[in-house]
Amino acid sequence: MGVYDQDRSWDALHRGACHLWHFRTASISDPILIKRGIEFLSADELARHARYLVPDAARSFLAARILVRSVLSLYAPISPSAWRFEPNRWGRPYIANPDAPPGLLFNLSHKPGLITCLVGCGRDLGVDVEDASANRPYLREIAQRFFSATEVARLVELPEAQHVRRFFELWTLKESYIKARGIGLSLGLSKFSFSVEEDPSPTCATVTFDHDFEDDAETWDFRLFRPDDRHLIATSVRRCPTPLIIETTGAEELVFHSLTAPDGANPPGIF
Ligand SMILES: CC(C)(COP(=O)(O)OP(=O)(O)OC[C@H]1O[C@@H](n2cnc3c(N)ncnc32)[C@H](O)[C@@H]1OP(=O)(O)O)[C@@H](O)C(=O)NCCC(=O)NCCS
Repeated sequence: MGVYDQDRSWDALHRGACHLWHFRTASISDPILIKRGIEFLSADELARHARYLVPDAARSFLAARILVRSVLSLYAPISPSAWRFEPNRWGRPYIANPDAPPGLLFNLSHKPGLITCLVGCGRDLGVDVEDASANRPYLREIAQRFFSATEVARLVELPEAQHVRRFFELWTLKESYIKARGIGLSLGLSKFSFSVEEDPSPTCATVTFDHDFEDDAETWDFRLFRPDDRHLIATSVRRCPTPLIIETTGAEELVFHSLTAPDGANPPGIF
C-alpha cells in the first residue's frame, strides 16, 4: 500500500493517531533532488547547513529538514518550503506558522542512516532513534552515569547476550521521554526508571517516577520499534481519551514527491 492510500491526514491525528515516519538518508543522493531540497530551507537552516564540514552530516541535516517539511505538508495546505519553526529555550523546535492547524506537533530524531519524525495533535510526544547494532565500549559506565539505580540493577542481572539490547532500549526510551517533555536534560535522567516488557520481542514499556518527580506515569504510552536490523526507535506519547494508534511508514515516496512537485503542491488525494 502506498503512502497516499493510507489515512495520513489531519483528521486521523485528530481522532487520536500518531504517525511515525522514517526515512533512509541514503535514498536522497541525486544532486538535482539535493539542490531542490536546499531550496526548501529557511535562511537559518541554510546557515546551519553551510556550517557542516562533514558531507555525511550535512546530508543528514538536509534530509531531516526535507523530511519534516514534506511530512507536515500532508497535514495542512502549507507547502514544504513555507513551514517556519521556532525553538523553545531548551532548543526544541515548534511550528511557528500562524495558519498551521492548532495543536499540530512533531518531534525529530536522526542517527547515521535513518531519520524519524513523529507527528501528533495536541499531546506531548517525543521520539528517539539509535543505531543499536553494535556493541560499543563503555556501555556499563554510561549506564552507571545516566540510568537510575533501579535500571542499572536490572541491567546487570541480565545475561550478557541481552545486555546490549536492553541498554539501547532503556537509552532510547529515556531520550524519547525527555524529548516529549521538551525541557532537555534539566529533567534529571536518574529520577525515572523504565521497565521493558519481556518476550517475545519487547515493544512496550512502563515507567516509574521518583516520589519527588512531577509527572504521572499512568498518562504515558511508551513503545519500541525496529524499522530494520540496525536501528531502534522509541516513542513517548501522552495518552488522551481515545486509544492511541501509532502507525509507522517509510517516507521515501513522500519525500520524492515533494522534491519533484512544483512548490506549493501537496501530495495528491490529501487536499
Ligand atoms: C537535545 C537532545 C534532544 C538531543 O538529542 P540527540 O539524541 O542528540 O539527538 P536526536 O537526533 O534524537 O534529536 C535531535 C532533534 O530533537 C529536537 N530537539 C532539540 N532539542 C530538543 C528538546 N529539548 N526536546 C525535544 N526535542 C528537541 C530537534 O528537532 C533536533 O534535531 P535538529 O537539531 O536537527 O532540529 C537532548 O535529548 C540531549 O541533549 N540529549 C543528550 C544525550 C543524553 O545524555 N542522553 C541520555 C539518555 S539516557
